Amino acid sequence: MKPTVVSTLILELFVVSCVVAELQRFEHAAKPDGSLSFLVVGDWGRRGLYNQSQVALQMGIIGEKLDIDFIISTGDNFYDNGLTGVDDPAFHESFTDIYTAPSLQKQWYTVLGNHDYRGNVEAQLSPILRKMDSRWLCLRSFILNAGPEMAEFFFVDTTPFVSSYFIDPKEHVYDWKGILPRKNYLNNLLMEVESALRESTAKWKIVVGHHTIKSAGQNGNTHELAIHLLPLLQAYEVDLYINGHDHCLQHISSRQSGIQFMTSGGGSKAWRGDVGTWNNPQEMKLYHDGQGFMSVEMTQTQVDIKFYDVFGSVLHKWSTSNLLSLAI
Ligand SMILES: *[C@@H]1O[C@H](CO)[C@@H](O)[C@H](O)[C@H]1NC(C)=O
Repeated sequence: MKPTVVSTLILELFVVSCVVAELQRFEHAAKPDGSLSFLVVGDWGRRGLYNQSQVALQMGIIGEKLDIDFIISTGDNFYDNGLTGVDDPAFHESFTDIYTAPSLQKQWYTVLGNHDYRGNVEAQLSPILRKMDSRWLCLRSFILNAGPEMAEFFFVDTTPFVSSYFIDPKEHVYDWKGILPRKNYLNNLLMEVESALRESTAKWKIVVGHHTIKSAGQNGNTHELAIHLLPLLQAYEVDLYINGHDHCLQHISSRQSGIQFMTSGGGSKAWRGDVGTWNNPQEMKLYHDGQGFMSVEMTQTQVDIKFYDVFGSVLHKWSTSNLLSLAI
């Protein structure tokens, strides 16, 4: 029943569109013992400033310890205004020359943030960057199947959902090439995400986007995502929603569903003291108003998440197991 309700909702909100381009799919093998581990960092590219280099150093140490398979970036890769082109030195100064630890020489799976949309979006998506640094893989929206069939990651381009960037862009100029007409773009994207979620047979379903769905940070909840994306996450029993955008580390659980909302947006400048109140304190498991990052270790039956501060100290741990559902 639920999926039908969701489809109807989307059709009511957006004009029905015709051609739906399928999301590109990637595969990443788990380790020989069947486990998988990765780091998540967001909101980082500041040429090493604002503790970006310190966070990178600790990522290198933890990455080594966990023998990570890859790294996820939740976007806002280059401040303040994305990349100017494929030859923008910020690519080296904020990425290649910063994340130099041996353990970080893995594939990076990257989405775009709103600041990236203020630059040349095509540049970040360009295979030319991949030639300069083979770790780099940035697409608007895509699917990663890890395991295989252990975890499926649904990377969603969230910036075009946010109406204020279109209606009231202030002094900023956004690169909407490839996005317009916006309604068609969003409608197609939601249909693609829904069909991929519906068909997924992975043990763990993880959705990654730049913008928050739930957050007590400066930006707070992104109501467009709460309206359009969250119902899909609930209907298809997504385990984790991972985002950046608010420059903090945060874990919010929810009474309405089993989804855990994880913010890893502490890659460089963090909003010290910028903490809102959350109406249900029991849902708020962590709010850290400083820099840091997150790690995920998983097997077919268990997920372990940790958040680290700028010194590499563990701030918060969370685990879940799906053994019960397997036994049925
Ligand atoms: C970097 O981290 C240290 C330790 O938390 C903090 O004292 C300092 O203010 C941070 N620097 C910046 C620029 O955020």
